[in-house]
Amino acid sequence: MKRVLIATEKPFAPVAVKQITGILTDAGYDVRMLEKYTAKAELLEAVKDVHAIIIRSDEIDREVIAAAQTLEIVVRAGAGYDNVELPAASEKNVCVMNTPGQNANAVAELAIGLALYGIREFFSGKSGGELRGRTIGLHGYGYVARNVKRIAEAFGMRVLVYTRYSKAQAVAEGLELAHSLEELYAASDIISIHVPARGEHIKSVSYDVMKFLKNGSIIVNTARKEVINEEDLLRIMTGNPTIKYLSDIEPEQKTTFQEQFKGRFYCTPKKLGAQTDEANTNAGVAAAEQIVNFFEKGDQTFRVNV
Ligand code: 3PG
Repeated sequence: MKRVLIATEKPFAPVAVKQITGILTDAGYDVRMLEKYTAKAELLEAVKDVHAIIIRSDEIDREVIAAAQTLEIVVRAGAGYDNVELPAASEKNVCVMNTPGQNANAVAELAIGLALYGIREFFSGKSGGELRGRTIGLHGYGYVARNVKRIAEAFGMRVLVYTRYSKAQAVAEGLELAHSLEELYAASDIISIHVPARGEHIKSVSYDVMKFLKNGSIIVNTARKEVINEEDLLRIMTGNPTIKYLSDIEPEQKTTFQEQFKGRFYCTPKKLGAQTDEANTNAGVAAAEQIVNFFEKGDQTFRVNV
């Protein structure tokens, strides 16, 4: 009997857990839960004899993979898999998958929510602005950005995109493309970041890009903190008191941002872009189904490691 661990420091909504466990138990698997754990030791103990693990932003590093002696597959219920040490998994022939697109609408709605919160001066009562007629610059054009585009257009915004990997998709949709990041940041009123914490995207939001920001620009980050060069952002926000930064991910120097940029910086209390019943269900159910298909049919669609 296959043993599947659902290891979520930030648990799925109960409605999602019910459906995930239903799929796995119907397949004849033994489902184990490790929710809201506070110490890595708990994870190391829980993974010992399982064949599959479903995670969210939970860190699966070399030590966890070494402790999971019978592990065959890890599914990250979500998009970003920067929390899984892929080479360590590959060395042990552990398949790693994600569930692309499944929580994208939830993250996109939060991105627009943060943009609104920023342009309305953090609901302070101070006179703000409106999204209609403003330009939103999408930094990256994956599943989340495509949902942001749909919602932004409904708000009457002009959408501009910078992408290297989804150019054909953006062109097919008739989108206006920026030819460089610099151009995107210079032309947008609101920047929404949608690139993964990988490769050239790391610290890609640098001083040389942000120095082109217009007065009053808002940067919304629902992606990862690693894609921003924090020192550069601090420098830009110090130099230009009209720039705002709203993030779903705590910056390393959160206290500095809070103290220095009152009324211009906001960060959600816990990364919550994908924290909806719908997103948890979509991503969790996809993860469970991918595990069943992997064990029963050898299906490795959505595998992200080689
Ligand atoms: C993702 O990569 O899918 C999102 O960042 C959501 O992450 P979470 O599952 O930790 O909320």
